[in-house]
Amino acid sequence: MQWGLESRLAQIIKPDTNRTVMLAIDHGYFQGPTTGLEEPGKTVEALLPYCDALSPTKGILQYCIDPRTAPPIILRVSGGNSMARREELDDEILTCTAEEAVRLNAVGVSVSIYVGTEHQRQTIQNLARMADEAHKYGLVVLGISAVGTSLDELRQPGKEEELARYLALASRIAAEHGADISKTYYVPGHFDKVVGGCPVPIVLAGGKKVPEREALQFTSNAIRDGASGVDMGRNIFQSEAPAAMIQAVRSIVHEGKSPDEAYALYEELGG
Ligand code: R5P
Repeated sequence: MQWGLESRLAQIIKPDTNRTVMLAIDHGYFQGPTTGLEEPGKTVEALLPYCDALSPTKGILQYCIDPRTAPPIILRVSGGNSMARREELDDEILTCTAEEAVRLNAVGVSVSIYVGTEHQRQTIQNLARMADEAHKYGLVVLGISAVGTSLDELRQPGKEEELARYLALASRIAAEHGADISKTYYVPGHFDKVVGGCPVPIVLAGGKKVPEREALQFTSNAIRDGASGVDMGRNIFQSEAPAAMIQAVRSIVHEGKSPDEAYALYEELGG
């Protein structure tokens, strides 16, 4: 691995634990003013000390994040879709160049792939092309398995194996097309197969907000099953106590705390 890429990767996945807590705040690129992110600058201010890396779009980065105090940035560089046309969510393009990401002092870039959809080829091509460009500059590439609304359908009880097969497929495809880190979702009972089939580190997206105890439980399960950390959004910034929640997540990821211990910490810090 070239020096620059390795150095940037180490800014994201901390060498002392080999894990990461990334904070995802890129939801607005297709969802608009997502609950909790109406004023992203205010939301993240109290959370920045506890995240190893931040995942915004270039707009939010430039307008809401102080360049003097920003943590390592993984810039979202795919988009062009919106919730106004849900049926076209998979019709993504690249929205930023690798050069621009370098100008913005990003350590990495993130691209969604929509495996199994009408535009899968286009989105996989987005990732492959961005990986080629980004790696010229030693930028880390994060491949995201985007599942959109179909995640809810696949999350029905009894469909865990099917969901695991799908996430394993998408995560592997992300790695095969140049991702250095693959971001996916937790699937109970089968997550080790998703991790086992992917040659690059896997980080966990949280999905829709669930009760804090539940989010800490699946975070812990995912780490136990081999995830290298989280790139979590709504289950942190939509929490009743976001700063307490991110510290509770950190305690699992970096300190190996149990879900009970992490929840106790959340309650203690969150009042
Ligand atoms: C989709 O908007 C992005 O990939 C998010 O960064 C990802 O879904 C992680 O956020 P959350 O934990 O809210 O699912």
